[in-house]
Amino acid sequence: MVALKTNAYALIQAKPFSPILGAEVYGVDLSKTIPDAQFSEILDAFLKYQVLFFKNQKEIPPEQHVIFGKRFGPLHTHPAAPTMVGHPEIFEIHVTKNSKVANGEFWHSDVSCDETPPLGTMLQIHIVPPYGGDTMFSNMEAAYDDLSDPMKKMLGGLRALHSSEHIYKGRYSDRGKRDEDIDCPEAVHPIVRTHPDTGRKSLFVNRTFTTKILGLSDCESDAILDMLFEHAEHVNYQIRFRWNLNDMAFWDNRCCMHRAIWDYWPEERKGRRVTIKGDKPV
Ligand code: SIN
Repeated sequence: MVALKTNAYALIQAKPFSPILGAEVYGVDLSKTIPDAQFSEILDAFLKYQVLFFKNQKEIPPEQHVIFGKRFGPLHTHPAAPTMVGHPEIFEIHVTKNSKVANGEFWHSDVSCDETPPLGTMLQIHIVPPYGGDTMFSNMEAAYDDLSDPMKKMLGGLRALHSSEHIYKGRYSDRGKRDEDIDCPEAVHPIVRTHPDTGRKSLFVNRTFTTKILGLSDCESDAILDMLFEHAEHVNYQIRFRWNLNDMAFWDNRCCMHRAIWDYWPEERKGRRVTIKGDKPV
C-alpha cells in the first residue's frame, strides 16, 4: 500500500491517523446540516482513509445523526441489538459495571452475517471512560495486498459462511432483548471482495462471524481461516483510536475490520451508532 498523505481539501481538514489507515477530520460540525460541497469532500475522504474520526464535535442530536447517516444511503437495522427509545435506527452502545458483555470485543466487520452487510457505521461516544475503551481498526485491503500470488489465486475462488447464532443468542438479554425477539442471520460471501466504489480488493473474513469455507474439509477450512484471521489482525495493518468526548468515528465495513476494547470495567461507556445498508459483496 502507498502511505496515506494529508489531502488538500477546501472545506474539511483530513489529517492521516497513521500511514496505513484512518484520518482525523477537522472543520466539520456534525450537529448541523452538512452542505453538499462539504459532504462530497467527506465522502471522498471516507473512501480514501477507510475510517474517519470527526474531532471537536458537540453531541449530535439523534435526528441529525440519522439524517447524516441517510446521506450515504438507506439505514441498516441491526438484527439483535437494542435500539434507542423513539429512534429505532439508532443502536445504543452502553456498558456499565453491570454489563455481561460489551459490544464488538472481537475483530469483525459489522453484521457480516447479513446477505447485504452494512456499508459503514458511524458511532459517537457521549460517555467516555476515564481511561481505556479504545477501538482498533485493521485495513483489510493492505492485508489482502500482502498475500502471495498463489494464495490470492486460491482465495479468489472461495466463499465462506458468516453465521451469527453463536454471537447474538442471549447476547443482549441484560439490555431487555429476548432471544425470541432477535434474528440470527447467516450468509455466504466471497473471501476476497471488491469494493463497489473504489474497485480495490480486500479480505472479507473475520473471527466473529466467519465460520466455514465452503467446499473444504473442516480441517482445511479451520487451518486457512485461522491463518487469515491472524494475518488480517497483524499489527502492521492496525490503528488504535483513543476516544475524546463526542468524537464520531465513521468506518467502512467493506474494507476494514474493528474491535472494541473493554478494559475499563467498572467504568461506563455510552454512545449512539447509526449503520448504513450495503450491497451484496462480490
Ligand atoms: C462496534 O460497533 O462494534 C463497537 C465499537 C465500539 O464500541 O467502539
